[in-house]
Amino acid sequence: MGDRKPFIAGNWKMNLNRSESVKLVRAIAERISDQPGTDILVAPPFTALSVVKDAIGSAKIYLGAQNMHWETGGAYTGEVSPAMLVEAGCTHVILGHSERRSLFMETDEMIDRKARAAVGMGLIPIICIGETLEQREQGRTFQLIRSQLDQSLKNFREQKAMPLTTILAYEPVWAIGTGRTASPQEAQEVHQFIRQWLKEHFGSGTAEKMRILYGGSVKPDNTKDLMAMPDIDGALVGGASLKADTFIQIARFHAE
Ligand code: PGA
Repeated sequence: MGDRKPFIAGNWKMNLNRSESVKLVRAIAERISDQPGTDILVAPPFTALSVVKDAIGSAKIYLGAQNMHWETGGAYTGEVSPAMLVEAGCTHVILGHSERRSLFMETDEMIDRKARAAVGMGLIPIICIGETLEQREQGRTFQLIRSQLDQSLKNFREQKAMPLTTILAYEPVWAIGTGRTASPQEAQEVHQFIRQWLKEHFGSGTAEKMRILYGGSVKPDNTKDLMAMPDIDGALVGGASLKADTFIQIARFHAE
């Protein structure tokens, strides 16, 4: 983990109505006051963002959205703009989650546009990348990761600058919601590769400061071993973030 502050994010996906969302974030807020060494974020559905923001109050919990459009406004039925997310109280936005890529046909080019728009609006992007089982079995993991990095971060790459707050999330598709986690070593290999890519394009100062999260069946009992790896700086948690108890246990991985 180096000197980087751990970052634990809960991606609630298309779960929880407004009152359930408020209940969950309150339960988290009551118990995270003793977590000053870890950054915590929740990403509820769009409809719950404002009420969750109110429920967070002064607690140290960041609010993220799960997606956004890159345009500032206009005739884009069904979409939400970066400014709308800021107005709802978001500081972060998850971009390019594998479910967005596979179910909603998001391409690296779209994610690149979204990342640029997010930063332009002062939002911190959490950009997801990861290979499918088939790609892993064909030995194409690193090739795929490199291509996703090259294309999804094209704009930053061309400018030779990326905000240090930008977060990357390695989420092997075969580990998402399957109960099958990458071993700490398997994850570390890819995280190290990503950090090396960052170094090549942005220099070692940026590479050493940026946080790279792991996601895919993160649970209380595997967090500590994952977080012990030198290039794993946090977790993007799906299923286990929907219960206060398990999410808090993950956020308290130091103490487990
Ligand atoms: P999971 O989801 O923890 O349920 O595997 C992770 C994610 O999709 O971000």
